[in-house]
Amino acid sequence: MCGIFGVIANNDNVKDQIFDGLRRLEYRGYDSSGIATINNDQINCIKSQGNLDQLQKKLINEDLLGNVGIGHTRWATHGVPNEANAHPHITDEVAVVHNGIIENFSLLKNQISETGINFKSETDTEAIAHLITLYLKSGMGSYEAIRATTEDIKGSYALAIIVRSEPNKLYAVRKGSPLAIGSSDSKNYIGSDGYSLGNYCNEVTYLKDGDIAIIKNDAFEIFDHQNEFINRKSQIIDKTVTLAEKGAFKHFMSKEIHEQPSVIQDSISHYINNEDLTVNLPKFPFNITNLKNITLVACGSSYYSGLVAREWFEKLARVKVDVEIASEFRYREAPMDSSGLTVFISQSGETADTLAALKHCKKLNQKTISIVNVPNSSMCRNSDSSLKIFAGPEIGVASTKAFTCQLVVLASLAIHIGRINGNLSDDDENNYVKSLLDVPRLISNVLDQEEDLIKIVKELNPIKNALYLGRGQMYPVALEGALKLKEISYIHAEGYPAGEMKHGPIALLEKGLPVIIGAPSFNLFDKTASNLYEVIARDGNVLLITDQEGLNHLGDTTKKIKSFIVDEANIITAPFIYTIPYQLFAYHTALLKGTDVDQPRNLAKSVTVE
Ligand code: AGP
Repeated sequence: MCGIFGVIANNDNVKDQIFDGLRRLEYRGYDSSGIATINNDQINCIKSQGNLDQLQKKLINEDLLGNVGIGHTRWATHGVPNEANAHPHITDEVAVVHNGIIENFSLLKNQISETGINFKSETDTEAIAHLITLYLKSGMGSYEAIRATTEDIKGSYALAIIVRSEPNKLYAVRKGSPLAIGSSDSKNYIGSDGYSLGNYCNEVTYLKDGDIAIIKNDAFEIFDHQNEFINRKSQIIDKTVTLAEKGAFKHFMSKEIHEQPSVIQDSISHYINNEDLTVNLPKFPFNITNLKNITLVACGSSYYSGLVAREWFEKLARVKVDVEIASEFRYREAPMDSSGLTVFISQSGETADTLAALKHCKKLNQKTISIVNVPNSSMCRNSDSSLKIFAGPEIGVASTKAFTCQLVVLASLAIHIGRINGNLSDDDENNYVKSLLDVPRLISNVLDQEEDLIKIVKELNPIKNALYLGRGQMYPVALEGALKLKEISYIHAEGYPAGEMKHGPIALLEKGLPVIIGAPSFNLFDKTASNLYEVIARDGNVLLITDQEGLNHLGDTTKKIKSFIVDEANIITAPFIYTIPYQLFAYHTALLKGTDVDQPRNLAKSVTVE
């Protein structure tokens, strides 16, 4: 999950455009970054540890001239995130930037080292730069040297390469990681996604696995894995995806939490007819009536949205659902019903594990739907059908509005399937749709109580560990809440089924341990309340999120706990309502800790490596 950008112009210096392109790719990683250009028959390279602000400081003081160049913003896979491991990696002949993982890197490094070459970094990418250079020095032309190198390396890679002896060319290589080419006013650009090219181009050409592109400032040629010239179709860039601004908010995450009522409204408007209170999905290219089983596949928060949705598919549509973590599922070789439906959930649409699971399922003749936020993303382009969530660009690494907009689409899909397979009546559909239409208001009500939550955060902090408990849909909501806290405040937190506490984790309870419990009064409240009593009996510090009726059920016990009251909920609205306090809790805890909320350490917005 790194960001690659490159530009080749006629005469103009390209450093600034490369930097702007990297800005748009920072969501893919920001451990370190760098730019290399060719000027006066020399490769010049400036790199920096840390995010792009650090590189920008260097670029101000050092000139980086040249009409061809490549840039990179990194999420470390091989080698610590320091300057030496930052890309581009250069030799005296080439500069290379890479997104992906070279799996036979150690073997290659040993072979290259035996030629007397000393590696300057711990990265797999440096091996690629040396291999190309060795082939060039053996007399090969640039294209042949690059193609020969791709025969040697195993793994996934998107590469941008410049060659010192060819300042009029830029090379792009793709296998497993996304890479696109865009053109405008006698310049050509390459970027890890269409969004990064959107500042300069109106359409892009995505490379396919095995492609090598030879790019000049006014033309480019693509050769496929059989070295055949190939004409790849270009696509219009969706310019509605613009880089969000923080506006009055301190962080993108805060803005995106508060955007939820409006973006959820927008998402709903694409899938709900609020005249006749019905779900209105696009037509699928396959039949989804009488589905026996649906498989939901995702990672991280997207996996949790799938766990939440399982209850909708099973209780409303009466369809059995398996929810799978992509990185596990893709290797398990689970038997799949040949006419089954598999749904891939992904904000970025580029998550390597989920993409690999998609490819695996297509080989098994699964009907595939992707639920994505980024238009034209790889998952969107590679599934039979795609449902956008319309959350708008989510810049904060910790997912918030994308998670709740995924829930909108999943609820709509579940209601739709329940309707067409006859398990939901017209009235049922109308009632569930009415609940969905009420979600923006209900979320606004929670956001209006932010100050109350901040008070509770201050009372509970400093926090060293935290437990999140819930039953039914409140269990995956607890998982999501724990992930939010971990991601942005670096505090260890665990989401757990409330009923499972007594099977071991209850040993964790000790004085003051914050235990956050989500318990709407309409579902399993008494069961969850019994777990709450178990926690109090062992001096746990309970924060209960419930509605007034739930609180009333607890009588005097309310004096022993902290509580945060939300609106009454039902099976449709509860996951939305209860997720918001968890998002705010994590955000304000991270503020107190002073961590980098939008770009937390070690993370990236899109995990495009295994
Ligand atoms: C969520 O806050 C995290 N950033 C992470 O778990 C994320 O949900 C996961 O990497 C999946 O990303 P995707 O939705 O883009 O596939």
